[in-house]
Amino acid sequence: DSAEKEGFEHFTLKEIFEQPKAIRNTLFPRLDKNNDIILDGIKLTKEDIEVFDRVYIVACGTAYHAGLVGRFAIERFAGIPVSVEVASEFRYRDPFIDDKTLFIAVSQSGETLDTLAALREAKRKGARILSIVNVVGSSVTRESHDVLYTWAGPEIGVASTKAYTTQLIAFYLIALYMARLTGKMPENQYHQILDELKGIDKKVEAVLKKADVCKAMAMLQKDNTSVFFMGRGVDVETSFEGSLKYKEISYINSVAIAAGELKHGTIALIEEGTLVMALATQERLFDKMCSNMLEVKARGARVVAIAQEGRTEIEKYASEVFYIPRTMDELAPILSIIPLQLLAYYVSAARGNDVDKPRNLAKSVTVE
Ligand code: G6P
Repeated sequence: DSAEKEGFEHFTLKEIFEQPKAIRNTLFPRLDKNNDIILDGIKLTKEDIEVFDRVYIVACGTAYHAGLVGRFAIERFAGIPVSVEVASEFRYRDPFIDDKTLFIAVSQSGETLDTLAALREAKRKGARILSIVNVVGSSVTRESHDVLYTWAGPEIGVASTKAYTTQLIAFYLIALYMARLTGKMPENQYHQILDELKGIDKKVEAVLKKADVCKAMAMLQKDNTSVFFMGRGVDVETSFEGSLKYKEISYINSVAIAAGELKHGTIALIEEGTLVMALATQERLFDKMCSNMLEVKARGARVVAIAQEGRTEIEKYASEVFYIPRTMDELAPILSIIPLQLLAYYVSAARGNDVDKPRNLAKSVTVE
């Protein structure tokens, strides 16, 4: 057991640190030297993609949050409308599914029963089934028409980390692939995004080099009983995933909201000393996020912000800031989740929790 942890105290921490490699393994085999994307296991043609009038992304837990980022990428890059659903609810609605539907299942294990049940329902109604899965040969892959594997390697920690970031990579690849095939994206923009994506592993490494900063921040949070996450744009999705990490392993009561919704309820809960994690990585939305931070700070909140390097004006609104390397707004989710994983981890470890096997949770949920 300790040998397998390769010197890390927990599998969760080891897996957080394996992310640069997991990202490389998922990304580079799918690119050739001309930046063409070759998706092994996906047989979708230009004609197939042009027929789709909608995409459903269905998953549970962390994979669902990856799906939210996937929606953002597919809509932004490929211009196809996307709905994202938690698998356990999918069958209770009457989703509009026919042979013009692309159904994307996302699952680390490929064995989550709710996800499988939703997939079967969609398949029965004629949808094309594409899955993003980590475990080779798992049930979800066997029942899909197309499979894109994340090459994260075995994930032992119950809280998903490296599977999540590789699911993001898979979605960016699929979205760019669709955008290219259908001519939805100018060539120069396509190359610009791919070139940035090809260097993202190095930026993840740079974030991990600052793990000690997260550890010190975690020491200030470990006795908190609640935390609020907020963001705008795709930072909302990262807020949900960061919040889930805190629930799962830190056991801190955590709520994540779109910052614009603050004034419609959550702000009533802000009082002296309330911990607020503010995701402010989206350059286009930076000023609006600063206003939201000011709103909670004025009511006594202790604001911890995540922002891109160079945005030091944020220090006026936050008591602590973790800076991620500069990147495109669209790709920031890959970097901004890392400090949140580390924070949740260090809080959990400082509290003496069973980080790798948190209470009441299972790695793979094969019951309804
Ligand atoms: C469980 C795990 C989560 C995971 C979810 C979905 O709840 O504890 O970490 O995100 O299942 O699992 P899957 O294998 O389908 O991604």
